[in-house]
Amino acid sequence: TATAISGSSSTEDTPPVSTNYQAPQIEIDRRRNLAIISHPDSGKTTMTEKLLLYGGALQQAGAVRQKAEQRATQSDFMEMEQERGISISSTVMNFEYQDFGIRLMDTPGHQDFSEDTYRALAAADNALMLLDAAKGLEPQTRKLFEVCRMRRLPLFTFCNKMDRPALSPYEIMDQIEDEFGLETHPILWPIGDGDRFKGVLDRTTNVVHLYQKAEKRGGKAGVQEVPLEDTVTLKATIDDEELFHKLLEDAELLEELINPLDMERVMKGEQSPLFFGSAMTNFGVQLFLDKFCSMGTKPMGRMADTKSENEEEMIGPNHEEFTGFIFKTQANLDPKHRDRLAYVRVVSGRYEKGMKVSHSRSKSGKKYNLAQAQALFGSDRSSIEVAYPGDVIGINNPGNFAIGDTLFTGGARVAFPGIPSFSPEKFAYIRSPNPSDYKSFRKGIDQLLDEGAVQALRQRNDDGGGPLMLAAVGQLQFEVVQARLKNEYNVESIMEPLNYSLARWVDGGWEAVEKADADGKLFGIMICQDRWGRPVLLFRNDWKAASVAEEEKYLDLKPWSTPP
Ligand code: G4P
Repeated sequence: TATAISGSSSTEDTPPVSTNYQAPQIEIDRRRNLAIISHPDSGKTTMTEKLLLYGGALQQAGAVRQKAEQRATQSDFMEMEQERGISISSTVMNFEYQDFGIRLMDTPGHQDFSEDTYRALAAADNALMLLDAAKGLEPQTRKLFEVCRMRRLPLFTFCNKMDRPALSPYEIMDQIEDEFGLETHPILWPIGDGDRFKGVLDRTTNVVHLYQKAEKRGGKAGVQEVPLEDTVTLKATIDDEELFHKLLEDAELLEELINPLDMERVMKGEQSPLFFGSAMTNFGVQLFLDKFCSMGTKPMGRMADTKSENEEEMIGPNHEEFTGFIFKTQANLDPKHRDRLAYVRVVSGRYEKGMKVSHSRSKSGKKYNLAQAQALFGSDRSSIEVAYPGDVIGINNPGNFAIGDTLFTGGARVAFPGIPSFSPEKFAYIRSPNPSDYKSFRKGIDQLLDEGAVQALRQRNDDGGGPLMLAAVGQLQFEVVQARLKNEYNVESIMEPLNYSLARWVDGGWEAVEKADADGKLFGIMICQDRWGRPVLLFRNDWKAASVAEEEKYLDLKPWSTPP
């Protein structure tokens, strides 16, 4: 039987010895992970801070921002984050709340880094869509919502900034329903907005929570709880005749209008529990956290290829062996150490310090020793002894681990499906102006390609000597590559943008490309190969790509093709 070890950061002197890597059920049941998706400026940083504050992980709100600032001064790459006020690298924050182990997965909000966000979502089992209540749905929320939908993630919705003039809650519900075809189910309902935002009705208990602003910035908000049915006290406490009547009216209306909460549909991402509040003033934050703990899903399994059966199989969290997949890699987190880290989402079993694992892409059956894993809190890392399903650990990456790889114990090979990328929309040649720097330039580029920071393309017949082309989702990704080449590898680089805006992988293969080319169908289209030598076509506009896809069906054009 498995040795039960409480907490994920136990510091016993002797490493645990076990004969079996199955995770104790209690550790699985108490874990909740959450990725927050939002349009920039909706308050994700603030919300993260407040969740940590209520989770007791921070003494005072403001520390996440400070941390980001401290971190930024550690390296110039991070300085870019600070200058632009954007979050480039996603991180994971662990904290304990009551009996729950919460894993908060930060996701970059800027659209140029949606690829990173996408990968973080591959590791998450729950998502929170954070909206600015004055703005409703925004472009980036739309894009990220699509990813959640593809993964059928349970999606919670929090309308933030209710302390400012906001859209009517009904209007927000309609927007989500009309645009996403997603039904919302209000759990918290707001009482007023702007200066008149008094608090929320908890519809699950019919208790009204009326807040007082925190005395000091960063402190917790005072709260008074009044049952909805105690109208005398309620009226006196709300102290606003109009809002009081509106609340009673809304409460009644919602009972009639709204479909009952259906956890099965929530789990499939078909119904979204809806919350209102203000992260800045803390209104509704703790209530959200409480509800999320009880309603959010515990770590889920993943479908995987298992060689023994040669078919897909569900690997659940209580599978007897350790399995996990890599969803992000990063080099030079600490410039002093030149380290490389791979972020592993544990899917099943127990990670133990010093355990030996197999690697899905290794043909030789070589075992890797996971001597050191790290819990991640921003760029602060502490060594951990044991981790369970739903956790994310950072392991040293000798260079063999890439995004999408699976690590596992036991005799049977397990391979989780790769993580698809967004189709690139920006293309540019990159070169080093100083021939003497070529070696460092290559090394830097290769490492950044391993991280998946950008993709590389070459011209059709180039066997390695031709110009190197980079492909990315957003322009900022290029700028990060250049900044990192300079700061981490001390090489200058020159980029020349290319006038293409869309890439399509040719699943029909090279033969199909030759045919289309011979028939003169690829005029004005750049024919390239990716890192694996597979054909990729670059188009100048959507229209051209759509017409080629329609007329030359044998090409079998795809926005992305999973690496071999
Ligand atoms: P992001 O990570 O999603 O980009 O958003 P962030 O938390 O940085 O918040 C963006 C701005 O919105 C910040 O203001 C923040 O204080 C404010 N904000 C966040 N939550 C709330 C809320 O519930 N109510 C109100 N009124 N404002 C909120 P800023 O002026 O850019 O920064 P700061 O001067 O407040 O630090």
